[in-house]
Amino acid sequence: MRKQIAAANWKMNSTYQQGEKLMDEILGARIKLTPDQLTIFAVPFPYLLMGRSEVAEEKNYHVAAQNCHHKKSGAFTGEVSAEMLHSIGVAYCVVGHSERREYFGETNAQVAEKIDQCLQNFITPLFCCGEALDVREAGEQNNHVALQLRESLFHLTAEQMKGVIIAYEPIWAIGTGKTATTAQAQEMHAHLRSILSEQFGQSTADQVSILYGGSVKANNARELFGCPDVDGGLVGGASLVGAEFVQIIGALKK
Ligand code: PGA
Repeated sequence: MRKQIAAANWKMNSTYQQGEKLMDEILGARIKLTPDQLTIFAVPFPYLLMGRSEVAEEKNYHVAAQNCHHKKSGAFTGEVSAEMLHSIGVAYCVVGHSERREYFGETNAQVAEKIDQCLQNFITPLFCCGEALDVREAGEQNNHVALQLRESLFHLTAEQMKGVIIAYEPIWAIGTGKTATTAQAQEMHAHLRSILSEQFGQSTADQVSILYGGSVKANNARELFGCPDVDGGLVGGASLVGAEFVQIIGALKK
């Protein structure tokens, strides 16, 4: 079975103390993950070491950075490189989140470079894609995500692609309380997998976890995660509420 993944995206929320308490609460629920399940906390940079020590004794629980720079190193004041993340033992990094694309002007080409930086530094990128509302209303969502994949992932080898996690996050569903229907999610995830299959072969496509993101909550996670091509979720708002996120982890396919 593909890895089933519950990924928390805290974004720019919570103080260090609140974050530590939140992790204590979630880990305190002692949800045993199967070998095919992962829980990943994408926390702000200053909390990565705290998060790492929180999950150190926990099987299949990890931390992720929410971003990294697209260059290896250099005069980029205020930025964090993939090499730096690797040097503190971070093994996952969110790349190309729609908020990075929208507010910080990240392009598909930069996202491709970030993916490379991650892979060169033994970090599994969690690559985000997804369309805005006007794109969906124009019926262009399939072409939109295809272009995102083509420009950011198609330079990889099949072997490298197996080391990438994809998150499909329709922008109209992020933080809006509006979730894609299971039919919309399944249809898009199957489309993404068919794109991967065409480029990298069916066996690679079958191994890549594709998460759904956009207003995943405790009360809709099981239904969404139940879709055959949905391998878990990337969760913003609901990941900041311990009891909610615990249920979302519990909703992963077994
Ligand atoms: P949301 O955010 O769950 O608050 O909609 C998801 C995300 O942006 O990753």
